[in-house]
Amino acid sequence: MCGIVAYVGSKVARPILLEGLKRLEYRGYDSAGIAVLTGGKLHVARRVGRVANLQEAIEGQAAFDGSLGLCHTRWATHGGVTDFNAHPHTDDRHGIALVHNGIIENYAALKTYLQEKGHSFSSQTDTEVLVMLIGELYEGDLEKAVQAALREVTGAYAICVICEKEPGVLVCARKGSPLMVGIGSDNEYVVASDGAAIIAHTGRVVMLDDYNVVKMDAGGFRTTDIHNTPLSPRVQQLEIELEQIELGGFTHFMLKEIFEQPKSVRACISGRLDMREGRVVLGGLSSFAKELTKARRVVITAQGTALHAAMIGRYMLEDLAKIPTQTEYASEFRYRNPVIEENTVVIAVSQSGETADTLAALHEAKERGALALGVVNVVGSSIARETDAGVYLRVGPEIGVASTKAFIGQVTVLSLISMYMARKRFMSADQCLDLMKEMEAIPGKIERILEQAGRIKRITEKYVERENWLFLGRGYNYPTALEGALKLKEISYIHAEGMPAAEMKHGPIALINEGMPAVFIANRGRQYEKVMSNIQEVRSRGGHVIAVATEGDTEIAKHVQDVMYVPDVCEPLSPILTVVPLQLMAYYAAVARGHDVDKPRNLAKSVTVE
Ligand code: G6P
Repeated sequence: MCGIVAYVGSKVARPILLEGLKRLEYRGYDSAGIAVLTGGKLHVARRVGRVANLQEAIEGQAAFDGSLGLCHTRWATHGGVTDFNAHPHTDDRHGIALVHNGIIENYAALKTYLQEKGHSFSSQTDTEVLVMLIGELYEGDLEKAVQAALREVTGAYAICVICEKEPGVLVCARKGSPLMVGIGSDNEYVVASDGAAIIAHTGRVVMLDDYNVVKMDAGGFRTTDIHNTPLSPRVQQLEIELEQIELGGFTHFMLKEIFEQPKSVRACISGRLDMREGRVVLGGLSSFAKELTKARRVVITAQGTALHAAMIGRYMLEDLAKIPTQTEYASEFRYRNPVIEENTVVIAVSQSGETADTLAALHEAKERGALALGVVNVVGSSIARETDAGVYLRVGPEIGVASTKAFIGQVTVLSLISMYMARKRFMSADQCLDLMKEMEAIPGKIERILEQAGRIKRITEKYVERENWLFLGRGYNYPTALEGALKLKEISYIHAEGMPAAEMKHGPIALINEGMPAVFIANRGRQYEKVMSNIQEVRSRGGHVIAVATEGDTEIAKHVQDVMYVPDVCEPLSPILTVVPLQLMAYYAAVARGHDVDKPRNLAKSVTVE
């Protein structure tokens, strides 16, 4: 939530800052701003809207040609979406500019204190309070003033700060929100919330830990904590490539990422299926094999799409490994005083590895003695670092705000974990081998679904004017129904509800009227007949049924308006296939309604505030 980029070096900062900021727009896109130090003077521009608006506003202005600067793309928390509330914010005494991602929780008390000291504020943001505090404490050394100010604040922050009085100095710090320093050649540094804004310049980065403060200038960089104790950070290689974060001929990142899914599953299972021994190999879990064998309960916690993947994981862990499993919204789990018994494993599922609630739930679980595992995509992210062990998705950067390939990766990894734990208990090598063979065939089966994209588009366009949809499924595909409804809501702004197909009779059936679209996941499985009965219930009340069915099921076409076929697959792995037509439907609905698919209104990809 909110993206930050800062630069210090010998080049003109502006193009590096703005190009980087565009790559971070998925983190928020209410407003954007930039501050550059040129000729010893601070120049600031802020604009409501996208980064392109800001770029246009400062086009050709030599005032923004300096070699030290910072910029920000905002997802509003405190204060409305206005030019005044956009970052960077500045102090009123020393020409200090700051960009911030996070929330300063004690900002109200600090603001009163600063007002008593004679500072006047022009925005309603918590961020302006922080920059004023740094200004108040400034005695000729920016790094020291930042450290002193951060000792006074509570909350979360990733910040970058510059000051007119120190023209070659960039200071940044983090607690709770992500930040990394890219180290270029010749003492050039690009600091950003995410490697996507850095990779075009350098692959060498330092990922900041909580309470790290980094000062960069022509003499190099140094890292301390907020008490000025020197630290020795680890320089590491970014694991992304430029082409992964470019559109590569697709119209939207979401479509690109949907089409990447066969490759995502291949990457995710590569080297993890031992076909000779009939077992799953998960290097990340190997040092906890004993604890996992003893596990008596699993809690999977996540938010959004990741929670839907978690729900499928729960079905798998209970069905395949026979371990009692529950799923929890991380935001609820962390505050409801959860009972964690001995031998409980908590799994945090997160694409970004930065979702504030999921991170907090993880802390809660660890404090209560659980073994904490992560199922995360972004390597080196906060959740990945704070879990005891974990399994990466390996699906590459996901840019589209609506999660697609990460969902498939999460379900795939959770199925691998389920097989891994099942083999440590009751599952035979042969049973595991059967599942692994099914798993190996999944990428080719997704390709077959993608070949039908044109047909799915035509079906979607028939219903796209409808404002209320239902998504219904049972068993393993109840969470898929939730995910189908969420996808449609978030990018098409169509009201959609997902639920267990049987639950429909307990209320939602009252909503069904003539022509209302009801999407049923009706692939072959244990509950196929029951789903067919539920379809009849909708049909007899005038609803229009769109079914996701198994290839070869010609019977179903006689009972529904439209069918989208998926290849046959064993039930536990079926959501990896059945979700694909639903992702495509949501995409084509959003395009038909003229929405900005990759940047849906009010959403952000990485929700780093509670
Ligand atoms: C946001 C995104 C969703 C995502 C959720 C959890 O709401 O828009 O797509 O599922 O956060 O994110 P995570 O990074 O933890 O998977």
